[in-house]
Amino acid sequence: MSDNSDLHKRRMAAVPRGVGNSLAVYAERAHNAELWDIEGRRYIDFASGIAVLNTGHVHPHVKAAMAAQLEKFTHGCFQVTPYESYIALAEALNELAPGPTPKKTIFLSTGAEAVENAIKIARYATRRSAIIAFSGGFHGRTLACIALTGKVQPYKAGFGPMLPEVFHVPFPMAFHGVTPEDSLAAIDQLFKADVDPARVAAIIIEPVQGEGGFYIAPPEFLRALRALCDKHGILMIADEIQTGFARTGRMFAIEHAGVEPDLMTVAKSIAGGVPLSAVIGKAEIMDAPVVGGLGGTFAGSPLGCAAGLAVLEVIEKEKLNSRAEQLGAKLTARLRQLQAKFPAIGEVRALGMMVAIELVKNRRADMPDADLTRAVVQAAGRRGLILLSCGVYSNVIRILAPLTITEALLDEGLAILEQSLAEAGAGATTAVA
Ligand SMILES: Cc1ncc(COP(=O)(O)O)c(C=O)c1O
Repeated sequence: MSDNSDLHKRRMAAVPRGVGNSLAVYAERAHNAELWDIEGRRYIDFASGIAVLNTGHVHPHVKAAMAAQLEKFTHGCFQVTPYESYIALAEALNELAPGPTPKKTIFLSTGAEAVENAIKIARYATRRSAIIAFSGGFHGRTLACIALTGKVQPYKAGFGPMLPEVFHVPFPMAFHGVTPEDSLAAIDQLFKADVDPARVAAIIIEPVQGEGGFYIAPPEFLRALRALCDKHGILMIADEIQTGFARTGRMFAIEHAGVEPDLMTVAKSIAGGVPLSAVIGKAEIMDAPVVGGLGGTFAGSPLGCAAGLAVLEVIEKEKLNSRAEQLGAKLTARLRQLQAKFPAIGEVRALGMMVAIELVKNRRADMPDADLTRAVVQAAGRRGLILLSCGVYSNVIRILAPLTITEALLDEGLAILEQSLAEAGAGATTAVA
């Protein structure tokens, strides 16, 4: 039987290095918040395969819905022989999307594809072309998406030219001294120096930046953006791909601000691990593109839609919004205790169960510690905890454990995180260089 190192050798020979791996741990099976590798070692999963498993690995209800669908058919293509589950899931999401305006939903397969479609719809509906996005934002790896993504390495460098007429402004980050007023002033400056607001089709924003480092957009900032969009006829796109489906204690994170976006992109936890994504938006805007202008062969697969309907039932039945708030509060309190013990923890950030620690030297926001972050992730991996890093400076550890995790497992994982921080040297006070 193969072990992790054999498989890693084969992987290095057969798969391009451009697809990174955070751990050389090869999965064999998983259940809820636990995963076992091919050597039989058990791990607690604080990564959820990058925010995909809010309902845990192989939730029995989601599994049963997929199994039932497998007995019927696996593909027909919604554009060729449509099926009810696509419509039922669209109806459910239209109801759940924030705001009173009637909604429509189109399904795709990946997050990037949802973002691409949101941009296409926004351009078609407004007959405008420019897009404003945020520094540090992440919207996917396809060609249009890397233009929107606000981080050059490793996402943009070497892959150009980028989509034209994409402009970036700073995202509010209190820890780094960027206020909402700074961000709004940057947009104002953009309208003076670079682009006529009448050319701007959309502003795309993650209510909480995911890959960028779990920075939380203050509610008043999101409301100010909404007002700015209304003033200039610009569409507001909320990218909820990482924040959606109860992760932050609301079905969608933008609800914390009481804002109705024009379009919303969702993916990741929508279908418990089956590739599925969607654009949910105001019906009139969604109906702008001509017949045949939107779609895709695998878009909104029967398996994905069946799983998606089951995921919504699990979120409701198991009250995962309140569970996210409850577990998030517990986790945050514990991380604040660790912050008192480990000087390297510069900030603890949380919205529901979207929780992160930012690691710095000398308690200084301008001295990110990417080496320490890498070392903590590796130490945790050796001790049986799957962690993920993120951040523009690669110095943030994010916790995205399933919302269905037991408190006992959460505690066990936190104890491993504490040991890993100690092993990697987070307790040492670094001398000022
Ligand atoms: C906010 C956000 N948008 C878009 C994407 C891209 O999604 P995918 O990797 O499914 O294409 C991601 C993925 O991490 C994301 O976090």
